[in-house]
Amino acid sequence: MAIMRRISRTNIILAVLVLAVTTEDTYAQEMDKMWGEQVMTLKAADAERGQLFEEGNYAMFIHWGLYSHIGNLYKGKTYYGIGEWIMNRRMANIPIDEYKALAGKFDPVKFDADEIARLAKDAGMKYIVITSKHHDGFAMYHSKVNKFNIVDATPFGRDPMKELAKACAKYGLGLGFYYSHNQDWTFPGGGNGPKKTEDGRTVDFKYYYENKCRPQVEEITTGYGPIAIVWFDTPGRIPREYVEELVQIVRKNQPKALVSGRAGYGLGDYQTLGDMEVPNENVDGMWETVDTTNDSWAYAWYDNYWKTPREILHRLVSCVGRGGTYMLNIGPRGDGTVPELAARTLRKAGQWIKRYPQVVYGTDASPWKHALPWGDVTVRGSTLFLCVFEMPKDGELYLPGLKTGVKSARLLGNRKKQAELEVQTTNGWTRIQLPARITEKVVPLVQVELEAEPEVDPCWGIDPSLETRVLAQFAEVTGAKQESKKWMEKFGEWKHVVRVWQWEGGGKASWEVDVLKAGYYSVDLTYSGEGRIVWGVNIAGGQHIQNQQNSSHNYQKFPIGWISFPKPGRYTVSVSCLEGNLAEASLKAIHFTFVD
Ligand code: GLC
Repeated sequence: MAIMRRISRTNIILAVLVLAVTTEDTYAQEMDKMWGEQVMTLKAADAERGQLFEEGNYAMFIHWGLYSHIGNLYKGKTYYGIGEWIMNRRMANIPIDEYKALAGKFDPVKFDADEIARLAKDAGMKYIVITSKHHDGFAMYHSKVNKFNIVDATPFGRDPMKELAKACAKYGLGLGFYYSHNQDWTFPGGGNGPKKTEDGRTVDFKYYYENKCRPQVEEITTGYGPIAIVWFDTPGRIPREYVEELVQIVRKNQPKALVSGRAGYGLGDYQTLGDMEVPNENVDGMWETVDTTNDSWAYAWYDNYWKTPREILHRLVSCVGRGGTYMLNIGPRGDGTVPELAARTLRKAGQWIKRYPQVVYGTDASPWKHALPWGDVTVRGSTLFLCVFEMPKDGELYLPGLKTGVKSARLLGNRKKQAELEVQTTNGWTRIQLPARITEKVVPLVQVELEAEPEVDPCWGIDPSLETRVLAQFAEVTGAKQESKKWMEKFGEWKHVVRVWQWEGGGKASWEVDVLKAGYYSVDLTYSGEGRIVWGVNIAGGQHIQNQQNSSHNYQKFPIGWISFPKPGRYTVSVSCLEGNLAEASLKAIHFTFVD
């Protein structure tokens, strides 16, 4: 009997584990699906609308609401994940009446719109998008349509959106409103909300749309002066005709405003990528990445994992370098103050932008279409801005495959007038010699004047002095599956990868690479998987190496061995998964480092 009890207990544990994994994956899939399809390119007729977005390239996102008052600490328990979902069943699962009653204690007396607009200005941001109503249904402005708002339901009694609109105008910033048009967890008929009215009538989404959503979109597009963007989110299954009507309301009341990509049905003006996703390859059309200064959109008391100024600049330059806009979020506390370390890191990054505004504003995508081992590039006409995030040893900056002639290269920011830098081209590579002493300590910047707009050979160059990471995303794949994968670290904290997995016998991921410096290179692979795996790395017509390494469920870098590129030139390198759990072995990147 004991054995039966043990087996049954094991089965129960297994079942719970499977359910937990499934639930987590289901949540992620549900959240991902709710983002809806995305429009790919701005419609030509609307192009004049996109100026602030197109040229600004950098904006402030603000998640501030009744949930900020909770800050992820509810009834003595801390919940880990995005703070604006604290009410939701996936976080603290707070009953509607209990949640609504919290409004009586929400009194953000320290809210200072001028200070927030000043911070955005100091950060180098060109507009602000703030949550006017999030999924919880609480309006952060004085809504005449529904009393569950910051003026009628709290002791605060002020309209912070009015104050922010005034402050944005004072500092010359655009103002946009986030509005959750589909989800409303506290209004009858709202997406993922209650189905019954307070007097017990069962209602549908139409009831919510007509009695709250549509009139509130009218309010936020008429009561606060010129609006730069209406940022709809998680369209989920909202009927298409409702989105069409909401877009028309925006067009009618705010003809110069953009509608975010997450309006749904491709009816937005541009594409919004997945949360916290900085793309590795250029993206066509008008698009934005939305990211946050730590790991939560709304204030979460424990979340002090702030992005450093260099990390902010790296993600900003890489977004602009891929052709897009970077909207970076802060989550003010329940008392209205901005976390001091969020403000500090934004201001430090803003000081660099103030020194080199030409790198971020009105610039275009890198001709390499991806980052380079030492950093990333933005372009304006025939000028390249090389932002150096990894300083090469002996100061040799390599540009692979640049086909356009270089007129001059100059290091910006050095106190004394910096002489032109020495530039050499060999075998299709351009080498720029940096000086030993560089005064710009945050992100050194080289301005390169070309003879014409840049043309680049798309072949991946293996850098002679820095580790070159070549992503699986750029591989030609046979006998395996190449696909993007999103997952949530903490709830709502999204990570993204394009991986090659589900290897069949003989399956391989291949890249054509260009080698300037012949010799031995150490090869590492970044992958996740189950158990020990044997990987093979092969140079067509050249050396083959293989090795067995362990694996982890996280993407981790493992050494494979040294490989020889006997002379400068083009090579085809391929990776194969030879033994172990081929289905789960998930390759993210191959790395080459010259061996002195
Ligand atoms: C997701 C979240 C939402 C957040 C948004 C920010 O849609 O559901 O809470 O406001 O991402 O991009």
